[in-house]
Amino acid sequence: MAEPRNRYSTVSLVLHWATAALVLAQILLITAAETEGSNRALWMMLHKSGGITILVLTLARIGWRIANPAIPLPGDLPRWQKLFARATHVLFYVVLLALPLTGWLAGSAVGRGFDYYGLFPFPLLPVGGGRETAGLLMDIHRALPKLLYVLLALHVIGALKHQFVDRDNVLHRMIPLIPRRP
Ligand code: HEM
Ligand code: HEM
Repeated sequence: MAEPRNRYSTVSLVLHWATAALVLAQILLITAAETEGSNRALWMMLHKSGGITILVLTLARIGWRIANPAIPLPGDLPRWQKLFARATHVLFYVVLLALPLTGWLAGSAVGRGFDYYGLFPFPLLPVGGGRETAGLLMDIHRALPKLLYVLLALHVIGALKHQFVDRDNVLHRMIPLIPRRP
């Protein structure tokens, strides 16, 4: 069946790949911070700053997405697959907001600030509750990456299925370097 000849806008492409790179960096930074003998303060400052950057990019992306409706998936894709793909995307947005927010809120609850990329003190949110609240928020912050990994696995499997099983142009829409199929 004919497929609409469109791809994601340059803004969407930049936001998608910048976020993906920053998410990968977040995991590497935490691994570095938790490595014995490492400069933990530096890696944690970069982790917190990267997380806030992801929060800002995700808010911008959701705004952009609302203003510019989604390009449709291939018309011959079964309805359940379209719903599954969209559900994965929505959950991605939820996790990309909740992860930085829980981290920021937890630090705020115990009054522990950080300098955004070492440049200026990042404001704390007006939350109280002290260590107990912070502990609860950090439990969520530690659990959410597991959901993120599951979503990422489903997302990449889905992308590969489109490319090698369905042999459609879904991956080309997000990676225009991949040649478009006729
Ligand atoms: C942490 C990493 C990633 C995150 C958080 C992420 C998140 C997302 C989200 C939220 C969308 C939906 C965009 C919309 O609102 O329409 C999307 C679309 C897409 N992503 Fe990713 N992604 C990641 C990594 C990847 C990777 C590694 C690939 C390639 C293997 C990929 C391929 C795609 C493709 C092809 C689409 C377009 C699907 C469509 O046309 O509906 N993504 N991604
Ligand atoms: C999308 C953004 C973020 C991602 C993907 C992310 C991911 C992670 C991961 C995977 C961990 C390790 C959890 C574990 O030990 O099991 C972690 C820990 C942590 N994160 Fe984040 N995080 C993000 C944003 C933030 C932000 C914005 C802050 C604070 C402003 C923050 C503060 C922390 C702290 C304090 C820890 C605990 C480190 C430790 O005790 O070793 N995170 N994060």
